[in-house]
Order: sequence, then structure tokens, then C-alpha cells
Amino acid sequence: MILCLGAGAKHRGRAEPLSSTNDSRHLRLGPTDATEALRWWVRAGVDATLDETPHDRFAESSGAEQRLGPNAPGSAREPSTAPETASPARLSGGGKPPEAGEIAARALAEAATDLETLRSVMADFDGCALKRTATQLVFADGVPGSRVMFVGEAPGGDEDRIGRPFVGRAGQLLDRMLGAVGLDRRSVYIANVVPWRPPGNRTPTLQETQACLPFIRRQIDLADPEILVCLGGSAVQTLLGVPGGITRVRGSWSDYKRDRGPPIRALAMFHPAYLLRQPAQKRLAWADMRALAAALKT
Ligand code: URA
Repeated sequence: MILCLGAGAKHRGRAEPLSSTNDSRHLRLGPTDATEALRWWVRAGVDATLDETPHDRFAESSGAEQRLGPNAPGSAREPSTAPETASPARLSGGGKPPEAGEIAARALAEAATDLETLRSVMADFDGCALKRTATQLVFADGVPGSRVMFVGEAPGGDEDRIGRPFVGRAGQLLDRMLGAVGLDRRSVYIANVVPWRPPGNRTPTLQETQACLPFIRRQIDLADPEILVCLGGSAVQTLLGVPGGITRVRGSWSDYKRDRGPPIRALAMFHPAYLLRQPAQKRLAWADMRALAAALKT
């Protein structure tokens, strides 16, 4: 949850002495009151502070053209039950010329010849606005070179704090799903399309996704898995571009086309965060995990 403070909020980067004014725009809090207020906000669920300049988030998020899929704000990385509508054409920029961030990302990604270099150029990259609000880059977990690579949408709050993908509740479910077919984080590689947490866990915008796309594509190239598992509608649409919502395409195999080299077999699956909200769908996810295990046997 993000707390949007009122007009006076922007004046206070640190606690200021208590003033006698009754005007709430000039409310001053002493250190004790400020600490108590902060504790109250944390108990109320506030887990993100952004910046001191007001933003009209409603106006920003109402640009439906800019959105990836139908994931509702606040349920990022959790596909909705509604069919997804994003088309590959929109996801590849809708024919628009690439933005500066994407151009810079492409050049940096191309030049990275190993994953450590890629991680370090991404950590220094300023072409995606999400970096400014995230705590840190969430690059990857698991073992590069594993036969299977999982890709999600973007980190959430736990991942942002810890710096590794899929460590929150959805990640714990993913661990159980892996365990059920004899896999674990030492036998797979895990990353996200967008490596910085979107504020308040909102869905990354098309522009943010496009700026990060060259990085995840290069990461896939360098990790070189035999099988790519795309978790959730966002990853499926962004990386595979298969038409149809995740409800329809989950369980299907397609080819992930690399810039160079042979394609990689790719499986579309429900996102574990979605399965937490829709446990009845775990039955289908189990079928997909078994299909994955069978494919790894061949
Ligand atoms: N959801 C994702 O898509 N990725 C994570 O790392 C965590 C939650």
C-alpha cells in the first residue's frame, strides 16, 4: 500500500518541531509523534514511500494503452480471472519507434557477454523510472545454465527488500511447486521481465517493460535454458507474444525466439500469485508442472 499524504507532506523530509498552527497544511510533528505516526502507517499496511512531489497516479494509470494485460492495479504479478487483452503488436511497442531507455538498454545488453556483466550494467542503468522508486535491482536466483528458467513479471515488496526474485508468498508456493516435481532453486534459474519493483506492486507500464525487455532477453540468452517457463499473462505476452489470455494459453508450448540462435521451448503457466488467490486453479498448474517434468525427462 502507498500512502498519499496531503498538501503539507512535501514540505517534510524529516521531522520538524511541533508548531501551534491549526492549519493541517503546516502540521509539524516532533520526533516522537513522527515515529508514532510512521508506526501507525506501517501497521495500516503502508509499505512504500515514493517522493516528495505529488503525482496524479489515477491519470497515469488510466492510460489503458500503456498497460500490459488486464491485471488490476494492486494485483500486479497476479493475473486476473478475466481474459487478457494485450496483443503482441501492442507489447512490441505498437509499431512506435523505441524510446531512449530501450535503445540504451539494447546497446548495454548486447555488449554484456556474461551474466555478471549484465547484472552490473543493469544496476547502473537509469533508463527505467522504476529504478528510482525500487530499493534495489532484483536480478535472479537459482543457477544459470540450469535446464529450465522461470520468468515472472516484476518483483514485489519482499523481493525488493531481499534482492532475489520470488521470495514472498508467491515464491514460497513456487518452491512447493518445484519440489513437487523434484526441482528446487539449485536446479532452476529464476528472473523477472522487469527487475525493479513497481510502486505499490502495480503492473509495469508498457514503456517500463519495453525499457527492460532487452535485459531479460539477454539474460535468457546468457542463461541458455532448454526450457523457458513464463509465469503469468505479462511474461507470456511479453516474451512469447502468443495470442489469448493466460487462462486460455496456460499449459501450451510455443517457441521463444531469440535474437540469435535456435528458439527455446517455452511453457505458459499461471502465476503462483494468481494461484494463491484462485486455489482451485492449482489443479491446472499441477498438470503444467507434470508436463514440465515430463519434458525434462526427454
Ligand atoms: N511476482 C513476480 O512476478 N516476481 C517476483 O519476483 C515476485 C512476485
